[in-house]
Amino acid sequence: MCGIVGYIGFRDAYPVVIKGLKRLEYRGYDSAGIALIDEHLKVFKKKGKVADLEESVNIKDVAGKIGIGHTRWATHGEPSDRNAHPHVSNNGKFAMIHNGIIENYVQIKNELQRKGYSFKSDTDTEVLLNFIEDIKLNNNCSLEEALRIALKRIVGAYCILLIDEQDPSTIIAARKGSPLVIGIGKGEHFLASDASPIIEYTKEVVYVNDYEIAIVKADELVLKNLGNEKQTPFITKLDMDLAEIEKGGYEHFMLKEIHEQPESIFDCLRGRLLPNEGKIVMNGVENNLDKLQNASRIIMVACGTSWHAGLVAEYVFEELCRIPVEVEYASEFRYRNPVINNGDVIIAISQSGETADTLVALEKAKEQGAFIFGVVNVVGSSIARISHAGAYTHSGHEIGVASTKAFTGQLAVLIMMALKIGYSKGTITEERYLQLMKDLESVPQKIKQILQNTDNIKAIANKYKDAHDFLYLGRGYNFPIALEGALKLKEISYIHAEGYPAAEMKHGPIALVDENLPVVFVATKDSYYEKIVSNVQEIKARKGKVIAVATEGDTIIPGMANDTLFVPDTDEIIAPLLSVIPLQLLSYHVGVMKGYDVDKPRNLAKSVTVE
Ligand code: G6P
Repeated sequence: MCGIVGYIGFRDAYPVVIKGLKRLEYRGYDSAGIALIDEHLKVFKKKGKVADLEESVNIKDVAGKIGIGHTRWATHGEPSDRNAHPHVSNNGKFAMIHNGIIENYVQIKNELQRKGYSFKSDTDTEVLLNFIEDIKLNNNCSLEEALRIALKRIVGAYCILLIDEQDPSTIIAARKGSPLVIGIGKGEHFLASDASPIIEYTKEVVYVNDYEIAIVKADELVLKNLGNEKQTPFITKLDMDLAEIEKGGYEHFMLKEIHEQPESIFDCLRGRLLPNEGKIVMNGVENNLDKLQNASRIIMVACGTSWHAGLVAEYVFEELCRIPVEVEYASEFRYRNPVINNGDVIIAISQSGETADTLVALEKAKEQGAFIFGVVNVVGSSIARISHAGAYTHSGHEIGVASTKAFTGQLAVLIMMALKIGYSKGTITEERYLQLMKDLESVPQKIKQILQNTDNIKAIANKYKDAHDFLYLGRGYNFPIALEGALKLKEISYIHAEGYPAAEMKHGPIALVDENLPVVFVATKDSYYEKIVSNVQEIKARKGKVIAVATEGDTIIPGMANDTLFVPDTDEIIAPLLSVIPLQLLSYHVGVMKGYDVDKPRNLAKSVTVE
């Protein structure tokens, strides 16, 4: 939540920062703003998207070789020009941007108000900034020292960038809980919430750690801890290119990312899934095989779409490994007093690797002695680093706020893990192990087939786009896909949609069914097939409109449904990887037809770094 960009060097800062903010807009788009120092400190900010800010700025006014910019996902204070970052301190000298939440800001605000400070916004950020100013003036110390003192007093999460009109050669940055990457160029430095604004200038980056302060000049980067001790920056080479983060001819990132799935899953399986050798190579699993196969329980911890991947994995792990699995919303798990026993394994699932609830849940579980295995997309992210072991999904940069290719990458990794553990444990036969490996290997080709002709999906989207509610039903491995289909529709098209286990529908949701309610059945050929046929009949008998995701060649379900989306045949364990694809496309097309910004749905953000 909230994207942060900074630049200091020989270039004009404004174009670098604006371009960077556009790349980070997926993190929030309630307002955007930029602060530059030329002779004086100048701040431009605007409610709305980065393009609105750009439009409001006169290009003649934006000189300066140092700049910081922010794209906001509102927490404290409504989206408005006034609450947009950067904020300026009371003496007009310091400007700051912030991603995170300062929990004890009310108390500090009261203290400052008693001293005569006034506030232009409702944000916690402006409070922190003035707190820093106050400390600096009272102690007559450097800005860096004032920041250090302030950070020791505050409770919460932050990534901040701070500039001082009187020192246009320095950006001071600090992080705890919210991400910060610094790109190292020749005579210039770039700062950002992720590497996407940096990639076209340099591939050398430093991921700043929690409780570190960075003092960044054009040709110098100094990292310190809160005790003022110098830290050695650990330079990493970025494994990402510009093409990955551009639309590549597609109208939207979401559509591009849906179409990238044959490739992203192929990349995820490459070098790991070796059916001809009967081997799955995953070092994170291999090195911890004992712990994993002897786990007394596996707890999947995640949020949103990643939580749905955990639900699919529950079915897969219990079937293939015979280990009891629980799937937890990270936000619930972290605040109760969960029982974690010796022998429990936590599998953390996260695209961004920065989701605050998931991260804190893991920290707590780790403190209690749990073994943490991370299934993460973003390399070097906080969850990847806090995990004891893990496997990256290698899905590439996902920019569309609604997760698509990252989800199928998570499923592919989790299925490979279950296969490897189950085979080593002896809970699946060699024959089934080899057959499932082959089925998994053929997924990229089968997704390609689904994506070859999507006219039917578009026509169905057009037919149902004006419905007010949708029901999504599935059983077994496809039950979580019904939940995911409903979530995608809600996120992208703002249509109310509920996902339910198909049989459970009789205990409530069936009361909603009439001739106006589209009911999406995820009903591929699997061991629940006969049962779901009966459920379809129950809906038809009440005049509901049935849209089915069915297996190619099936005639029974398509014979009953009003409309059918076909997917190729595969094993039921692999089926979720295919059945989710038409549902992603259905919500995409409905959203586009309704005229919504599908890449940046209202109120959402891709990386939720607040609780
Ligand atoms: C946000 C995104 C979702 C995502 C969820 C969890 O809500 O909009 O698409 O599934 O966060 O994010 P993570 O990065 O942990 O997978």
